[in-house]
Amino acid sequence: MSADFEISSPLPGARFGSTLRLARRLSQGVPDGLPGALADAGGLLLVPGLTEIAQQPELLVELSRAFGPEVEDYRYTLTSSTSVHTTVPEIFMVSNMAPVNRAPPKRPEPPLTADGGLPVQYPHRRGWHTDQSYRRPPPDISLFYAVTPVARERGQTMFANGTLAYAALPADLKAKVEGLEGLHVQPGSGRSREAVLSGQKPERLPPHAQPQRQPVVRIHPVTDRPALYLCEWGQMDWVDGPFIGLEPGPHGEGAKLLDTLMSHLTRPEFVYVHEWTVGDLLVWDNRCLVHAATWYDADKEQRMMWRTTVHGNPGALYADEAKSWVPRAEPVTA
Ligand SMILES: [Fe+2]
Repeated sequence: MSADFEISSPLPGARFGSTLRLARRLSQGVPDGLPGALADAGGLLLVPGLTEIAQQPELLVELSRAFGPEVEDYRYTLTSSTSVHTTVPEIFMVSNMAPVNRAPPKRPEPPLTADGGLPVQYPHRRGWHTDQSYRRPPPDISLFYAVTPVARERGQTMFANGTLAYAALPADLKAKVEGLEGLHVQPGSGRSREAVLSGQKPERLPPHAQPQRQPVVRIHPVTDRPALYLCEWGQMDWVDGPFIGLEPGPHGEGAKLLDTLMSHLTRPEFVYVHEWTVGDLLVWDNRCLVHAATWYDADKEQRMMWRTTVHGNPGALYADEAKSWVPRAEPVTA
């Protein structure tokens, strides 16, 4: 317990995560000990009541710096400028309002489970991913702040815990994923499962946008614990993947394994669903959690969320790797 904050665990209805309440306003200084609190929480912290960030957005960047050495500046990472905050370029805006105009995800089909609940488990729930897994080294941590959330029971963010899911994996599946690599690609590259199923011809991707291999079992660099590290329809490569060395494509051996693993990873006992309140901040560890967004009525509701992304401690596997997503000058040839 720190004098600077109070922790309660786990998050309501979940087996992991913590609520962290700051003892003082953030503008009076970012407390020490936050990365340790995040690791102890299994990779998910809710910090409620940070309404001061909406008035002073640079506080979100200061807080982000407490979690790692590098906070992404979206001016330099091939991000559409309409999604970047005008005065604080480390903030990526997720909103249906102009100029961002990002549509919420579709509703699951059917919209509710048989017992009237919110669908969380894949494949009923789609859109599970870990941020920017199409980059090497991938990022460590994301911070997501509610400037204007939508009303409860929609526009939620859900999290599935890859550490708990890996530990509960049956022995035959543990053996199958040992040393296995997934092939991840940026959404919208024409290589999603939907795109391949609809017969779309994949685009030629430049060197800095090539699909990237990632371990299916990722060892967390802080806790040393193994976690499932996977995405599904939109962020795996369904032309040459989803797995290296297994039959590719949407109907292959790789697809069957991915469906089995994602369905396991998103079992309700590994999931937390967050209902947003103004001023909430969620801090999540992309190295051991996957997350998904839910539908809201974009014709009737307006939503504005701010995200930052922290890089710098991806683990020994990525030691000294150049950033895959940064375009490099072509070598000069005689
Ligand atoms: Fe995300």
